[in-house]
Amino acid sequence: MYRSAMVSRTELPDRERRDSALADAGYNVFGLDAADVYIDLLTDSGTGTMSTDQWAAMVGGDESYAGSESFERLEAAVADVLGFRRLVPAHQGRGAEHLLYGALVEDGDAVIANTHFDTTRAHVVEAGGDPIDCPVADAWDADADGDFKGNLDVEAARDRAATVGAGRVPAVIVTLTNNSAAGQPVSIENVRAARELADDLDARLVIDGCRFAENAWFVREREPGWSDASIGEIVREKLAPADAVIVSGKKDGLVNIGGFVALADSEKRLHEELKQRAILYEGFFTYGGMAGRDMAAMAVGLREATDAAYLDHRIGQVQKLADCLEAEGVPVYRPVGGHAVYVDAGEALPHVPDGEFPGQALVCAAYREGAVRGVELGSFAFPDTDRPELVRLALPRRSYHREHIEHISETFGAVLDRREEITGLEVVEEPPRAELRHFSATLRPVEK
Ligand SMILES: Cc1ncc(COP(=O)(O)O)c(C=O)c1O
Repeated sequence: MYRSAMVSRTELPDRERRDSALADAGYNVFGLDAADVYIDLLTDSGTGTMSTDQWAAMVGGDESYAGSESFERLEAAVADVLGFRRLVPAHQGRGAEHLLYGALVEDGDAVIANTHFDTTRAHVVEAGGDPIDCPVADAWDADADGDFKGNLDVEAARDRAATVGAGRVPAVIVTLTNNSAAGQPVSIENVRAARELADDLDARLVIDGCRFAENAWFVREREPGWSDASIGEIVREKLAPADAVIVSGKKDGLVNIGGFVALADSEKRLHEELKQRAILYEGFFTYGGMAGRDMAAMAVGLREATDAAYLDHRIGQVQKLADCLEAEGVPVYRPVGGHAVYVDAGEALPHVPDGEFPGQALVCAAYREGAVRGVELGSFAFPDTDRPELVRLALPRRSYHREHIEHISETFGAVLDRREEITGLEVVEEPPRAELRHFSATLRPVEK
């Protein structure tokens, strides 16, 4: 549904270069130079292509320190698209998380979520809290059917909350789509049940709405009663129960940088507190670390993201990638999520023992084979949690084409044809903060 308005050249580095680049990066693909990557599926965050309308808006960005027109445009877009009038901008999603969780969470608190995303988990821990994940029972089953496997298990959450001291759960978080649980969507019914739980716990309901539009597409397709609603209506209905919404504009804001916290009208005091925290950590509360031009582009992007034809194409492309991978014999998590295909590395490489990071071994093998960069979201990224060895292949928005999909699936097919040659990995060095280990730890192949 697009034609290119600008292109960037990419080149497949030769095998020798790929081998040495991987070794130099310590078998951690975060350490690669982007120039050595042919197809980059590391993340869908901030890596998409902007529209000509967004570029036009950037030229008109207002760079005033306070009260810029670009901020007003962003405020208007957030009010129209998400339905929230209180807004604190931040440089990206984790900046927004820092503002919010730093204000809400205290030492000894517990925070309950359908699944904490890695930066969310880290911010809760940083603020002194204990992040508790309560995904639905089959969230980690790569073959189980289910329309909304991203949901919060509300009863499990209630049981876990009962083990925490009264008044020690300041927030219930629902992340939609659920990035750490294979990008699975969350139903409106589940958001409403989470609201009731939050009320019972005297907690705030926080929605991590980075992928608010993609989640709405799944609601329209799958949740009874919503098939005739517009994406815009679904977005507003789904977010309405929240006290606070975190958004990284780098996803469904369709921009390369930026984010914000949106707050319910009733949250006047919290709004004032977050504005003060914004001045301290992000920048004045009418820019929050973004240039005016970035806010102007996001104001346009938020509206574009709810275009039903765009979403049909976007999520259709992710599903196409899953089908092509499966045709090559690659085991993928089903149903397919909104922004990425998750490969089941435990099943793909059954000979790599637990503890030797089969997911990371698969990520490295795919890079060596075809300079395709994915990311491990299994025991390397989440050391102390019991989850499957998934590899995420996240598609940047509006960036890749059919030929890229073919190259990716052929690469993984070739890797699996020679799977016996792939060995496990062991950690050489890791940073002190375990929640962030996968970003910068180095590894080496295990000697047999
Ligand atoms: C669900 C979720 N929350 C928060 C974030 C953090 O956003 P950012 O990368 O803009 O800091 C991400 C980023 O991938 C995410 O997927």
